[in-house]
Amino acid sequence: MDIEKIDPTAFRTALGQFPTGVTIITTLDDQGDRIGVTASSFNTVSLDPPLVLWSIDKSAYSYDCFVNCKHFAIHVLSSEQAELSDLFAQTGADKFDQLQCTTGRANLPILPEYAACFECDIEHRYAGGDHTILVGRVRAFHSHDAEPLLFHRGRYAEIS
Ligand SMILES: Cc1cc2nc3c(=O)[nH]c(=O)nc-3n(C[C@H](O)[C@H](O)[C@H](O)COP(=O)(O)O)c2cc1C
Repeated sequence: MDIEKIDPTAFRTALGQFPTGVTIITTLDDQGDRIGVTASSFNTVSLDPPLVLWSIDKSAYSYDCFVNCKHFAIHVLSSEQAELSDLFAQTGADKFDQLQCTTGRANLPILPEYAACFECDIEHRYAGGDHTILVGRVRAFHSHDAEPLLFHRGRYAEIS
């Protein structure tokens, strides 16, 4: 498709051909309340130093909070966590009410279950159109042997 006449629906469909994992990213707001969103934009950047990235939509309720925070925790979801992903993809939901979270570095909310978790300090913020790209320096991580939750063509999927 001609890049000058890009059709947003066709673009979204084409992007959906790229399978990703699914993460939930958490932080604290100014009042110390727990904030979290589902995000599939997570990716690795660098091994040394250990850097990862994800991008937050400017229209998200939690946008200001994530762009201004100093730390966030990225939880890579397992194949059994599609419901949790849906919960954290809702605006205004009581996302943490039913969860027994623990606290990580800088009091970050850590979900009770995940395939992997990366506790990060924000290293860079970059303009990215209708998103802002956040690069985190990993300060601690944990991982379990679990099958990942995948997202492909607008749906959850599992490795078969
Ligand atoms: C599988 C999946 C992946 C998503 N990836 C992202 C993402 O990378 N960045 C983003 O800002 N929103 C992403 N979203 C949408 C947010 O989760 C959604 O907008 C959520 O409502 C944001 O929460 P908030 O409005 O409470 O801030 C994704 C949603 C789903 C279901």
